[in-house]
Amino acid sequence: MNSKATAVRKTDVTTSTSARRQIVYEAISGGTGLLLALFMWGHVVLVGSILTGERGFDWLATFLEDYYIAQPTVFAIIVLFLVHAALAARKIPSQLKERKRILRLAKGLSRSGREQVATRTEHSPFRPHVESMLWIWQVRTGLVMLVLGSFHLVLMAMDILTPLYGEIAGIESATSMARVSAGLWLPYAVLLLCVEFHASVGLYRLAIKWGADLWMSRAVMHLVERIIFWVILFLGAVTLVVLAGWMDPPLAFLLDGAAS
Ligand code: HEM
Repeated sequence: MNSKATAVRKTDVTTSTSARRQIVYEAISGGTGLLLALFMWGHVVLVGSILTGERGFDWLATFLEDYYIAQPTVFAIIVLFLVHAALAARKIPSQLKERKRILRLAKGLSRSGREQVATRTEHSPFRPHVESMLWIWQVRTGLVMLVLGSFHLVLMAMDILTPLYGEIAGIESATSMARVSAGLWLPYAVLLLCVEFHASVGLYRLAIKWGADLWMSRAVMHLVERIIFWVILFLGAVTLVVLAGWMDPPLAFLLDGAAS
């Protein structure tokens, strides 16, 4: 085999190794994203237990801690969160020049279809490019989550594992409500909005990437994505309002007859 053919073969092997590596990265970032989204639905139920009142919230937190479910879960979520962020971040442009280009692209995309065409009075035939805008917002919300989510996870690990917050090592409604009403409601509200957008759009994009649009139309998937977004956002927002002490728990009647 001559040297040219050997060089071509080497390039082929390198390309296929790197393509295989990219598929593995894709599967891991998709898999960790899926697990985190499923966890966030469970999180809505767990934190949402405050809707039944402080007794319901404390009972669930104590149950998960006494049976050593909360302690390993917080570590598992931290690992999933970091692995997902590290692998998903490989697609974010790293150079300032590229970021500026993305910014210009985002502006152009959100305007497209709305601007007047210079030579004509009617609107441009191009509709705003929803799918590309979703990707750009996926990146933006991901960056916000990296900061606020890391803070929240460290806070939760310290709360569950040390007696630094409250009377005991573990989550208590009194301390959770005290810190939310003292001002954490604001970063939590931003985090909530980013998480729900990121998770519902992430699931939609993941489904398309792995071929779900072969048996379901994109319009239906978009609809499902929007329903998930609004339902979970509504539940999270009501939970936050109750945690902040601005509203009485609306489901307190469910535990009215229960023994304390
Ligand atoms: C095992 C890990 C986690 C535990 C034990 C946990 C627990 C809690 C608890 C107890 C609260 C009530 C507020 C407080 O006590 O400060 C809360 C609120 C919240 N958490 Fe987490 N959390 C975890 C992971 C996450 C992750 C990964 C995210 C998103 C990145 C997240 C997003 C939120 C948001 C947005 C709120 C505001 C309340 C709401 O849902 O409306 N949490 N979490």
